[in-house]
Amino acid sequence: MRKKIIAGNWKMNMTPSQAVALCETLKPLVKDAQADVVFCVPAIDIVPVVAAVEGTDIAVGAENFYIEDKGAFTGEISAPMLVEAGVKYIIIGHSERRDIFGENDILINQKVKKAFASGLTPILCCGESLTLRKNGTYKEWIARQIAWDLTGITADQVKELVIAYEPIWAIGTGETATSEQAQEVCKLIRDIIAEMYDTDTAEKVRIQYGGSMNAANAAELLAMPDIDGGLIGGASLKPDFGVVANAANA
Ligand code: 13P
Repeated sequence: MRKKIIAGNWKMNMTPSQAVALCETLKPLVKDAQADVVFCVPAIDIVPVVAAVEGTDIAVGAENFYIEDKGAFTGEISAPMLVEAGVKYIIIGHSERRDIFGENDILINQKVKKAFASGLTPILCCGESLTLRKNGTYKEWIARQIAWDLTGITADQVKELVIAYEPIWAIGTGETATSEQAQEVCKLIRDIIAEMYDTDTAEKVRIQYGGSMNAANAAELLAMPDIDGGLIGGASLKPDFGVVANAANA
């Protein structure tokens, strides 16, 4: 039985003081959640958020990092920096990093490797554009992304991995994939993992849905057999996140 994982992706929101205030709002709302709860926060908020959630079961994630440990990489942050600060999860390959910042699957694969080598758990994102959804090639696209991004990753590592299926057309648009659409692709991803590795690995990998997930639709999405959690943007910045975090409770 896979434990559900509900992660907020705060994106580029919350100054440090706002971040601490949001933690104080959310802490009592998520304390009874049976899922793993993660706050993925902007780099500058990591230190105050780790302090703010100390003593709770909430884990802290980062939204981005670079593959080198240190050096002349202006503006970047490294895995050792994140680990020392108390970060446990790292979002890799979010469509906003792919589309706005030009990250490709070669770099994303290097980041997955670096995360595992550093003791960080990757939340690896994949998902198709509206064009690919409409022309019917989205399954091939997802399969290619997964194959590229997991090149050289072992079965034991994949068992620890979190994959987030985030159809780009559903991110920040208010348009959610139906639970059937989300289930179809999450199941497809599990089948791809079974083919690349084995069924045991496929049964263990946790697969989230992300894209306009909120207090109203979370329970239905999380009830689907291959949806093991959510990666939540907009709704992670408000008390609604408490409802989402508890939506998978028995
Ligand atoms: P929204 O929940 O705002 O659609 O964002 C989803 C997302 O991109 C999470 O990573």
